[in-house]
This record gives sequence, structure tokens and C-alpha cells, in this order.
Amino acid sequence: MPGYPVLPEGLAYGGDYNPEQWPEEVWREDVRLMREAGVNLVTVGVFNWGLIEPREGEYDFSRLDRILDLLHSAGVHADLATPTSSPPMWFRRGYPGSRLVDREGHVLGGGSRHSFCPSSPDYAAASERIVAALAARYAGHPALAMWHVHNEYGWANAHCYCPASAEAFRAWLRDTYGDVGALNAAWGTTFWGLTYGSFEEVEPPVAAPVGVLTGLQLDFMRFSVDAHIACFRRERETIRRFSDLPVTTNFMIPNCKPMDYWRWAPEVDVVANDHYLDSARADPHIELAMAADLTRSVAGGRPWMLMEHSTGAVNWQPRNLAKRPGEMRRNTLAHVARGSDSAMFFQWRASRYGAEKFHSAMVPHAGTDSRIWRDVVALGADLRRLAGVRGARVTADVALVWDWESYWALELEWRPSADLRFRERIEAYYEALWREHVTVDFVHPSADLSPYRLVVAPSSYLLGEAPAKNLHRYVEAGGHLLVSYFSGIVDENDTIHPGPYPGALREVLGVAVEEFHPLRERETVVLGPSESSGSSGSCGTGAVGRIWSERVRLAGARAVREFADGPDAGHPAVTRHDLGAGTAWYVSTALDAEPGLRTLLTEVLDHAGVDRPRGLPDTLELVRRGDHLFLINHADAPVTVPGVTGTGVLDGAAYDGPATVPAGGVVVVRT
Ligand code: GAL
Repeated sequence: MPGYPVLPEGLAYGGDYNPEQWPEEVWREDVRLMREAGVNLVTVGVFNWGLIEPREGEYDFSRLDRILDLLHSAGVHADLATPTSSPPMWFRRGYPGSRLVDREGHVLGGGSRHSFCPSSPDYAAASERIVAALAARYAGHPALAMWHVHNEYGWANAHCYCPASAEAFRAWLRDTYGDVGALNAAWGTTFWGLTYGSFEEVEPPVAAPVGVLTGLQLDFMRFSVDAHIACFRRERETIRRFSDLPVTTNFMIPNCKPMDYWRWAPEVDVVANDHYLDSARADPHIELAMAADLTRSVAGGRPWMLMEHSTGAVNWQPRNLAKRPGEMRRNTLAHVARGSDSAMFFQWRASRYGAEKFHSAMVPHAGTDSRIWRDVVALGADLRRLAGVRGARVTADVALVWDWESYWALELEWRPSADLRFRERIEAYYEALWREHVTVDFVHPSADLSPYRLVVAPSSYLLGEAPAKNLHRYVEAGGHLLVSYFSGIVDENDTIHPGPYPGALREVLGVAVEEFHPLRERETVVLGPSESSGSSGSCGTGAVGRIWSERVRLAGARAVREFADGPDAGHPAVTRHDLGAGTAWYVSTALDAEPGLRTLLTEVLDHAGVDRPRGLPDTLELVRRGDHLFLINHADAPVTVPGVTGTGVLDGAAYDGPATVPAGGVVVVRT
């Protein structure tokens, strides 16, 4: 595998550079400004296919030659993209069979990017040709630092339902099942008599009058991931014929539900991610932290690259909020704190044309006499000071279980409640841990869990037998497990595990669930102390649950809280099962953040021996990466953190005792 780090001199800083949208005199200004800001890496050529192959088989690399030469002369490295996410107009016209078809059977239009079928043989041939031409021409170019294949696989064309996709899906099923009897057994096709006599009878899960076989839907999602991975591999292998530089593609963790990034990760030389703040959230930086932690986990703990984020507003949300003063810096440094070795933006210079002209950039429409530009220059200086953090790892005592297949399965139609959303509970638990200053990793349920003191499974509806056993063994060996309701219900085919719920987790949790009692919209239930615990137990007083209640029977566990009202009044709401050398906790409602979830988590963290700072405001982000301690203050008032010793990396100050982090500011101390 080609070497990492990508840039030996430190953290990579820059963004998507689209000089083709500007006259050449602007390019010279661009590289001058890049040097002023300390930019050392730019992504070029992402959407250039129609420009470098204006007619089929006719290439014109003259502009890209000049751009790469100019970057090299300015000492700026290139992350050269293959342009295959935006096929040219001639391709669309000449190969109509490659057009994307949605679930309702609409052929989606051109005049846009991502408008192609990932299983199209014509797309495969044309994309391989352009990648080979590009790689042959530029493999030895001195500006090149790495290859950036495609752009955001699966973002807009995750699932295609055209005849070519249907054919490829059937081939995938033949490979997976061998014979159609095995497929029928896996999908449970005796239900409604939907039994297949041959693979030829299988259609993709197109829009149907009522609920479609869920096993079929899940396999189509798996097939679609593989179809995109096959596109990536084809390009990667083509590049490899010419070049040994690292090859990556930009993921969209966690905001591209259809892509299972556990499956993607081994394909890339370095994991790269794009992340944009969701302005509608109250505390968008907590979702940012979650995205960064999940990206690091997908990367197996190795340093990863932040390939895109924004200096200010995006253009595709209902209300595109500008970042407040200091927010861009906090965002970027939070990604670095959580393992990124780069800080890249979409985009270098704000565009004048097309769909994205209101998207922020490093050089905004306002030019360099702007807050954004001054902040971009200052950020470049911060990142140079942080060069020493490159390559360092983040360690975590707590892991959250995240499985894309469970995400897909939980959100199929006809679940017990529309309020069961995969990310709802994950984000609730993540946020509570963030506010406790606990850094978490994310894990697949079949991963090695031994490094963790506590594993939390907030949303593991789909859980195969083997991963469930993995959790069981983890607890027996002394691990601590916290599971939220509606977990361990079905296997990988969306078939209910036999016996009372939660089938796959019944033994480890020591409970059996007799009946679900989903709550009405906005209905709440109150939790109280359990009679058997006799104490105020977990969750403190005033704990409230939403969304869910259920009839839990103890089968080895003991109740630590009961429902005080609602359909399960007087029955267990939170249980604890001491098993082997460990403990498994179960929570059967959606506890509100305060006081219920926070109080319960405090108790579970203490019981699991998770060490964490105490007494700090829950608006302070605190992360350790190697010997760098990052303190990011998201509040409007300064905060003092006791017991900080070391050298301030950003401010050069010597810290020995209490450290003050200014309102909205960041302090990084090398300890
Ligand atoms: C990303 C994409 C970029 C740009 C950006 C805008 O998803 O990769 O090309 O469209 O969004 O936020």
C-alpha cells in the first residue's frame, strides 16, 4: 500500500480548486493567495471530464497541464481527481442505457452530475478510458501528492433501478446464494406466497402497491454498495497501472445512509471525509464531533483526511446559515482533534455559475477584504503550528455500536412506530457522552470490543447471531454493555430471532420483552425508583421517556428503574444484569437527555470505571490526540480548566495549572 502521510511536511490545508471556471489571470492571483494562506494541497479536476474529453476519444489536457504546472511552481501539491462523477453530455446522449432510473421508474435528467447508473457497462468502459488517459499523463507530474477517485460515491445515485442494474443485481444474487432455494429461505418468501422459481424472476425493489419483501430490499442495498465499490476498484486499479501514490475517494460520513462505510474502508489508502454542518441543529458541533469520531473509527483509528467542509454557509439547506465568528476555526480544529491530518474545504474560490454559486469558499465573492479570508489566513497559521499532531492517534474507553445495515433495516416501512429512527438514539447517547467529555469510538457489533470499558448499543435492531455472541462474550469477560430498546430483534435478513424479544440479546441482558407499547406522538412516560432496587436508582428523579414503552420481564437481570405511569406502569424500565465478570444494562424507553439519560450514563460510566474530567461545563469540548490536549469552548463565556500542564501550541503560552479558554476560543496544549 502506498505510504502515508500524504504530506510529509505537516497537516494538509486547502480545498477543491476549480480554476476552469475562471480566466487564467485569476489563476496567478489564486496561487499567490494560496501561499499567503499557507495552502499546501488542492483537489483539482473533480468535474473535468467534459473539458478534458470534449468529444469521445478526443482529449485536451492543455488547461490541466498549465494548472498543475502552476501549482507545482507555487509549491502547492495536487490531489488529482478522476472526473467520473460528472459524465459529459456526449456520453449521456450516446449511451442512453447508462441513465439513472429511480424507484418509480423515472429516467433522471442530465444537466447535472451523478446522473448515471453505476452498473452500466458503457459507463464502466468510458470511465476506465478517461481514468487511464489521465493517469498515464499525470502519474509522474511533480505536483501530484495523491489521487482522488470520483466524488462522493452514492450521494445522488446510490440506487439505480434500470434494466442494467436489474441484471447486475440478479448476477449478485446468484453469486451470493448459489441457488434460488437459499434465496427463498433467506428472504422468507413463503410470506404472501412470494416464492421465486428462478433468479430471472427477481426484480429490484421498485415501487410496489404495498410493502416489499424486506430481505429483498436489504440485499438490493448491499448489492448497490458493491456496485459503487466495483466502480471505485476499477478506477483504482487503472491508476495503479501508472502510479504508486495514495488513492482515496471522499466519503460522506455519516450523512450518506446508503453507503456502508465499514465495507468501503479497506478499499482506500487513506479514509477521506466530507462534512457539512446542519444549520437547523441547536448544537451542530456535536454532530460534527460524531461524524469525525465515526470517520476515525471507519479508518480503523488511523489518521484520516477531512476532504471537504465549509468556511461559511452551504447552499443546499432550507436556511443556509453563515458561520459565526470563530465557528469555522472551532469546526476545523475539532476535526483535527478527532484524528484528521488535513483541513480541506469545498471550495477555494466561490463560483459564479450554476447550482453552487451561493456556497461559501476560502476566497468569497466579497474577496480578500472579508472576515472569511482573514480567518482562512489565520487558520493556515494555526495548522502550521499544529504540524506536530500529524499521525497521532486518539484513544477511547467507550464505543458506540454503529451498523449501516441496522440503519437501513430499522427505517424500512411498517415498523412498530414511525418514531423509531436509527440516528435518534445514537445521537442522544453520543451527545450525552460528549457532554460528559468522553471520547468515543464507533464499532461494528462484530468488532474486537476488548479495548473498551463500556460499549453502548443505542440502535441495534438488526443484529446477527455471531455479533450478538460477540457482545455476550465481551460482557462475560468483564465488559460493560448498555443497550437501548428495539435492539437484537432481527437477523441480517430482517427475520425475527426466535422466542421473546430481544431474541439475540435476551441472555446477555437477562430480560424478555412480552409486548411493545409504542407511545403516541409527544406522549411521555415517567420513570420512578424500582421497588426491588429500593433506591432512587439510575436516571435520578424526574426521568421522562418518549417514543417507546414495553413490557419487560426479568430473566436474570434486576430492575433499577420502573415505569411510574403509561402502559407499563409498575414494570421495569431500566435493568441491570451482572453476568460473568461484566454487566449488561437495558433501557426500554427513549430517555430524555436531562435528567434521565445523563444521570443513567453517569452511573454506568462510573460503574464501568471510565475516567473523565469532572466539573467542567458541558459546552466545552475536550479531546486528547497523542500528546496534544484540545480544549474547544463552544460557549459565549470563558472557561477555566484546572490542572493543565504543557506548552500552548497555538498561543505559545506555558501552562501549569488552570488554563483559561476564551469564549468561543480554542486552546491546544502539548503535554
Ligand atoms: C459536496 C460535494 C461538492 C460540493 C459540496 C457543496 O457534497 O462533494 O462538490 O457540491 O458538497 O456543499
